[in-house]
Amino acid sequence: MHVQVGIVGAGPAGLLLGHLLHLKGIDSVILESRNREYVIDRVRAGVLEQFTVDLMTHVGLGTRVHREGMRHDSLYLSFAGGRHYVPLAELTGGRAIYVYGQNEVVKDLVEARIATGRPLHYEVRNVSVLNIDSTRPSIRYTANGDQEELTCDFIAGCDGFHGICRPALGNLVTFYDKTYPFGWLGILAEAAPSSEALVYTYHERGFALFSMRSQRITRLYFQVPPEEDINQWPDDAIWQEMLTRMSTQDGWRPNVGCILNKNVTAMRSFVTEPMCAGRLYLAGDAAHIVPPTGAKGLNLAASDVLHLARALACFYGSGSTHLLEQYSETALKRVWRSQRFSWWMTQTLHRFPDGNPFDHKRQLTDLDYITSSTAALTSLAENYVGLPMELAF
Ligand code: APR
Ligand code: PHB
Repeated sequence: MHVQVGIVGAGPAGLLLGHLLHLKGIDSVILESRNREYVIDRVRAGVLEQFTVDLMTHVGLGTRVHREGMRHDSLYLSFAGGRHYVPLAELTGGRAIYVYGQNEVVKDLVEARIATGRPLHYEVRNVSVLNIDSTRPSIRYTANGDQEELTCDFIAGCDGFHGICRPALGNLVTFYDKTYPFGWLGILAEAAPSSEALVYTYHERGFALFSMRSQRITRLYFQVPPEEDINQWPDDAIWQEMLTRMSTQDGWRPNVGCILNKNVTAMRSFVTEPMCAGRLYLAGDAAHIVPPTGAKGLNLAASDVLHLARALACFYGSGSTHLLEQYSETALKRVWRSQRFSWWMTQTLHRFPDGNPFDHKRQLTDLDYITSSTAALTSLAENYVGLPMELAF
């Protein structure tokens, strides 16, 4: 079997790339190690930048996000007992973010893929990539017990942080890594959101975040040690900690409800440079990880695959490899912007175990400055809603 582009991984990056290539008449095979339900059901982040929604709309995937997603023109920063309003849209010429779960994005993408009739294989095993330095790289895998080999013009490694593609780049790449001495305990709760906007809280007991998934479901997080065992947290203790950190002097607090899902995620910043070797191109979490504080992960996957689709379309349209040669540099520019912002949000809003009272005062002053300066608030807002990007490809 031969295909123009072999895509490893059917998360947001792999599926969106497949869709963009389809629109350009470029064929692809998508190979995913898990089953479809697992990929759709796993609870992940849920904030889309303006650019990501614009892209989905531009490529015919915008119907449900506009109908069911929640557009947010603002957020709150909360510290020292007070909530401070950040008018995102007003500060950025009308740009906003959308709360729309990653599972919903994946559902839309799977449906679009199935409608194209192009291959999407779940539960493939033993995936490996070969001959990436040649013009005929290939992907070997087993499906239903049979060994298969797919030769490709190009391979897109969209297999997430724990995938096999990044290790296949060889030793000419550099990894930039930062782990944080905390993780997030996250819950989905059956409770109507008590605020129309997200609330990012810096509390002396640590970070907390109020978010939502729908008019009925609240999504909440708070900072815990990175190896925290979720079983040490009965539901009552979780609510008590949430309320302690989030309640503000104006009487605001999250509504309490039945906890539907709870987990702990570790946090890190990670970048692979360059994001390619030979004919293997990484996109999304396979190439980089951001801490969730800036809500950028899914959006970077979208910007990577837009650059990659544009470069592949240019190659198939004109034979020119110049955009492919620039892919890593172009994609990394936005990746590093988001890395910087996510790191900044993280270090401003969390308590570090080795932090001292000086750090606490400095962080409070930073937040006080940001919320009282239009210049600083505008900087925060433009980074949070994300930079505009050319959508044509
Ligand atoms: N072979 C095939 N598929 C694989 C393999 C493999 N060896 N290893 C992993 N995968 C699959 C995973 O099961 C997963 O479905 O690759 C997919 C990668 O998807 P994600 O981890 O969601 O990564 P990505 O598509 O880059 O999405 C961007 O950014 O911040 C995050 O939450 C955000 O997950 C989102 C991500
Ligand atoms: C979420 O709703 O899951 C969410 C929101 C904002 C973040 C991270 C996660 O920064």
